Amino acid sequence: MAKLRLGVNIDHVATIRNARGGPHPDPVRAAHLAAAAGADGITAHLREDRRHISDADIVALVRDIHLPLNLEMAATDEMLAIALRHKPHAACIVPEKREERTTEGGLDVRQERLARYVGELNKAGIRVSLFIEPDPAALDAAKALGAPVVELHTGAYCEAFGDDPAGEGMRRELARIEAAAAHAARIGLECHAGHGLSFDSVGPVAAIPTIMELNIGHFLVGEAIFIGFEAAITKMRGLMDAARATQSVSA
Ligand code: PXP
Repeated sequence: MAKLRLGVNIDHVATIRNARGGPHPDPVRAAHLAAAAGADGITAHLREDRRHISDADIVALVRDIHLPLNLEMAATDEMLAIALRHKPHAACIVPEKREERTTEGGLDVRQERLARYVGELNKAGIRVSLFIEPDPAALDAAKALGAPVVELHTGAYCEAFGDDPAGEGMRRELARIEAAAAHAARIGLECHAGHGLSFDSVGPVAAIPTIMELNIGHFLVGEAIFIGFEAAITKMRGLMDAARATQSVSA
């Protein structure tokens, strides 16, 4: 079975830096540590209001980091121009509202205007993914828009897991992710997942065999306060691999 990749999202290293306005802590240094700790890629969201990652961070990440960069971006002409200028390995189109604290839900894929962004990124050789709810109709729409990859929003699952890790709500949300990941494989989309994942909640998602990549950020940066960033990534990587191995044995 293909290895499950870990993309480490470094946005919140920049959040802490920006709280004081100076250069520390540097998200590029965090990206180097993530690479040393076993990350397969670096993810960064250049938000329209630049609340965490800055334009200069993107320049430095592209220049200095050897891991594939996954640029999360809103579907705007400004962000498209930045992506085409820097040519990251991948771009994940996410919904963005200025007033939200984080990306609160999946993209509304019923927007025909998205086809132009997907098309331009595809043409530039950037692997495009759409951040969507785990819903078969959204996957079909992503496919129709020409995206080769989808990233399933795991926020509802993580919230349900937090309420009761063995409860009905968690089982229902996990089943939605499993069904969506199976549907992605059926219609020929590469499937990723992310948002809100922690040491506790990652296992059941990592065990889904058709999910190829998880993007994880906030929990890892928070946990770095207690055990260090590298240790948090190493532990997350281990939990993902262990969940995947269990799955292979039972498959
Ligand atoms: N994937 C996408 C598309 C995201 O926008 C984010 C951040 O909101 C993540 C993954 C990582 O989420 P978190 O920081 O909660 O781990």
